[in-house]
Amino acid sequence: MDATQRPAVVIDNGTGYTKMGFAGNVEPCFIIPTVVALNESFLGQSAPKAGTAAYHNAGVMADLDFYIGEEALAKQHSSAYTLSYPIRQGQIENWDTMERFWQQCLFNYLRCDPEDHYMLLTESPLTAPENREYMGEIMFETFNVPGLYIATQAVLALAAGYTTSKLEMTGLVVDAGDGMTHVVPVADGYIIGSSIKSIPVAGRDLSNFVQQLMRERGEPVPPEDSLDIARRVKEMYCYTCADIAKEFGKHDKEPAKYVKQWKGNNSKTGAPFSCDIGYERFLAPEVFFSPEIYSSDFTTPLPEVVDNCIQSAPIDVRRALYKNIVLSGGSTMFKDFQRRLQRDIKKRVDARTSASEKKSGGDHKSQAVEVNVVGHPMQRFAVWFGGSLLASTPDFYNACHTKAEYEEYGSSICRLNPVFKGML
Ligand SMILES: Nc1ncnc2c1ncn2[C@@H]1O[C@H](COP(=O)(O)OP(=O)(O)OP(=O)(O)O)[C@@H](O)[C@H]1O
Ligand SMILES: [Mg+2]
Repeated sequence: MDATQRPAVVIDNGTGYTKMGFAGNVEPCFIIPTVVALNESFLGQSAPKAGTAAYHNAGVMADLDFYIGEEALAKQHSSAYTLSYPIRQGQIENWDTMERFWQQCLFNYLRCDPEDHYMLLTESPLTAPENREYMGEIMFETFNVPGLYIATQAVLALAAGYTTSKLEMTGLVVDAGDGMTHVVPVADGYIIGSSIKSIPVAGRDLSNFVQQLMRERGEPVPPEDSLDIARRVKEMYCYTCADIAKEFGKHDKEPAKYVKQWKGNNSKTGAPFSCDIGYERFLAPEVFFSPEIYSSDFTTPLPEVVDNCIQSAPIDVRRALYKNIVLSGGSTMFKDFQRRLQRDIKKRVDARTSASEKKSGGDHKSQAVEVNVVGHPMQRFAVWFGGSLLASTPDFYNACHTKAEYEEYGSSICRLNPVFKGML
């Protein structure tokens, strides 16, 4: 069977989690932490070429001696293994480890032969073109894929946020994942590169913040489990509040209603413990809106970053961007996040409008700017889902770089990926 008749493989490698599956599906088949446990004896070796005996042996050894995802994390207390996180702040930093990671994703998780499937991979909006070439080399040479498309995460997230059947690829994507938060304006499917803003605060920082708050309060959490517990506390109990001062008051007045309990067992000794979850419930998501409570390095609130981003875009697309601010990524999942972001952006926009009306002495009345922050059921995996949509259309196969093109022109073809419009 021709590879274009088979579903494409869609993999969104994030700093924290990799989402993988097949085009046309609504959900990824697997979501696993982007981490590899490497046996010390394999460190420093690079992967052999496809088709050779060494490649085969490496594959067999890989099954035995490398673990990825949850299985890798389970090895973290073993002295024989070293954990490696190949992606930092959205960028692939360790290509050897990344290659091992993809190997296991394809062969052990998706259980497919990459020679039989076109492939859609994603990249962060600020990725250097050289990185795209490395991806191409690994995909075409090591895995022998018949075709490859490398899509920008924000464009996929925008495609996932469609609520109507009208093809209008204009909007602003707020992608808050684990390693980085990106604010990316897209007009007609093209990223407005000069207006992209990134914020060095995302899910991992919020987990650290929860851990720090619980530690400072002296909660009896086993130190070796504390970060993992902080992450789970954050995912299960944190929410965005409307007003931080009022929220403190509410917690103090009715602790029974707001303070939650966490019960667990020490992962090493098995000893049970329990602790309280208090102000961190609303303080962690508040970092997006009042970043100074967490760090003195970056202090611009997300609504201001979004507003600045749109103001720096060409004037004729600004209204369309305010109207379609699409959320993407795990760290936008906090309850009421959408509502707070919309309210705070709207406040800034309205203040500016009335200031300019005042300045004109009341002669000039501006038309109100519609601000719309869009949340949707696929928000958590918006990038992957957009990739699944895009790669399930027949046009996708034409937009891909093929193995034959790669062989003829080399990896530089991967530097550019055509904007894909035939999505819906
Ligand atoms: N329900 C939830 N509420 C709050 N945070 C959540 C929730 N579910 C997941 N997260 C957090 O979202 C983050 C993972 O999101 P996502 O998978 O979008 O990131 P990523 O793609 O790995 O990272 P990046 O895009 O920055 O490279 C983690 O920090 C996780 O703890
Ligand atoms: Mg991501």
